[in-house]
Amino acid sequence: TQNIYILAIESSCDDTAASVMLNGKILSNVVAGQSIHEAYGGVVPELASRAHQQNIVPVVQQALKRANVDKKQLSAIAFTRGPGLMGSLLVGTSFAKSMAYGLDIPLIDVNHMQAHILAHFIDEEGFNKPPFPFLAMTISGGHTQIVKVNSHFDMEVIGETIDDAVGEAFDKSGKILGLGYPAGPEIDKRAKLGNPKAYKFTKPKVEGLNFSFSGLKTAILYFIQKETKANPNFIEENLNDICASIQYTIIGILIDKLKLASKQTGINHIAIGGGVSANTGIRQALKDGEAKFGWTTYVPKFEFTTDNAAMIAIVGYLKFLDGDFAQQDITASSRLKI
Ligand code: KG4
Ligand code: ZN
Repeated sequence: TQNIYILAIESSCDDTAASVMLNGKILSNVVAGQSIHEAYGGVVPELASRAHQQNIVPVVQQALKRANVDKKQLSAIAFTRGPGLMGSLLVGTSFAKSMAYGLDIPLIDVNHMQAHILAHFIDEEGFNKPPFPFLAMTISGGHTQIVKVNSHFDMEVIGETIDDAVGEAFDKSGKILGLGYPAGPEIDKRAKLGNPKAYKFTKPKVEGLNFSFSGLKTAILYFIQKETKANPNFIEENLNDICASIQYTIIGILIDKLKLASKQTGINHIAIGGGVSANTGIRQALKDGEAKFGWTTYVPKFEFTTDNAAMIAIVGYLKFLDGDFAQQDITASSRLKI
């Protein structure tokens, strides 16, 4: 059989990433984060784009070097076409286009949200691939969706957020508490040390499989304002309990919707993907769902949860097998849908 080497490039938000894959197996997976945004409490698009321009050449070189692959061996180049920040996407898109053109090999466009889901198809020891159809919940800083996955490239969004993404709920709650950006990982860490039932936040009432998180953010803000008025040290004295309670509420919202989606579709195979699937609490809640609701669950390896190029590579590989290539005139698309 033929050896298919894919070089994949991801630059949709604030991580510049490149990965080399051989026949569905990862040879290298390099990510350069951008700490510059921490000072601003969020991603600054113009700074992100400039950092991608600085990082992309060394990141790609590193990925090839760590994989011990020469660029002349590559079968195709895959890149994130969208969704994401336009200025960021453009860097990866133009880089991939010119490299594929120079090497005279196929170019493959990848949808970032499909990639978060198809990361489950990376060949990794100890990780099973979900059978079709399965449900995938994508939870990240920009998206919150429940997707019915009928086959690799036949996906239906059956529920999504009507306002903030779940990652934003973590990050904005963290901002209220004075935590750094992004606050998700810090809330996760503190939640382990706190009592999840210390404070109760009401869950939003949203019809069907859709989500809403902006009300929760406001509820947390009012709660903190009220408590700090009575006790100026309220946050620092109770930070772990506050984080645990916020995380508990968010996980409850996600699991409720997954239960409903599973009931409505009759599908018990459930996968998660996206940055928030790094969260220890959601990973545990999903595992608990196996005994509680008869689910079979698929939780990605930690390094494939937050933005990375390995997930872009697996989509590139699957599309390569389908002969599904992009043309040289393809453009980035910041609002690309699943
Ligand atoms: O997928 P991702 O890396 O980028 C987007 O495409 O948005 O997701 C980033 C989001 C951020 O909101 C971050 O706070 C959240 O994922 N996140 C977490 C954890 N790790 C990252 N949220 C909760 N718990 C975590 N452990
Ligand atoms: Zn992402």
